[in-house]
Amino acid sequence: MNTAEIHYSQSELAKLRKQAYKWLDKRRIPHVQGCEEAAVKLSARWGENPEVAAAAAILHDCTKNKTEREQMDLLLQYGITCDDALLAAPQLYHALTGAAVARDVFSMPEAICSAIRWHTTGKPDMTLLEKIIYLADYIEPTRNFPGLGPLRQCAFEDLDTAVALGLSMTMDEVRSKGREPYYLTKQAYEFYKERNRTNAFS
Ligand SMILES: [Fe+2]
Ligand SMILES: [Fe+2]
Repeated sequence: MNTAEIHYSQSELAKLRKQAYKWLDKRRIPHVQGCEEAAVKLSARWGENPEVAAAAAILHDCTKNKTEREQMDLLLQYGITCDDALLAAPQLYHALTGAAVARDVFSMPEAICSAIRWHTTGKPDMTLLEKIIYLADYIEPTRNFPGLGPLRQCAFEDLDTAVALGLSMTMDEVRSKGREPYYLTKQAYEFYKERNRTNAFS
């Protein structure tokens, strides 16, 4: 379904916030609120449906408070298969389980579940909503780390360049911890870096 055809009233979003926040550690709520704020602003800038972006942001970390064991149980419960690289990275599980919970418990449409699914690693050729949630998670107002200023600015000037920048920052962070970035993150980076190069000549 095209995201333009999805509609959530303000009262529906308020109800969703109330239900979704129950799943979260209280300390994570400001991050989720910030992510919603950033997602709505990015939607206004890039022509996405802000109601859909808000719903995706509200739910994007809905299973983040689950333990690794609980995440594994959810993966099994929903029949989600993981490749070895993903299995070795428990910090990524919540994107998969969050998407499944958004679908099953919150009855969210596929476009929203997919944005939740890809918010941690990214992937090549993302939808507009997937890119917005990926970046909103990164640049929301409560975040504070080196390089964030230029990324925040870039997100409103050139979305694909901002995605490439975010992906490269993620890969740097993962490598700084002695791990190898997830292969789809590397592929996504190549995709958006390449796209920017192509656009520069078009
Ligand atoms: Fe997350
Ligand atoms: Fe998040």
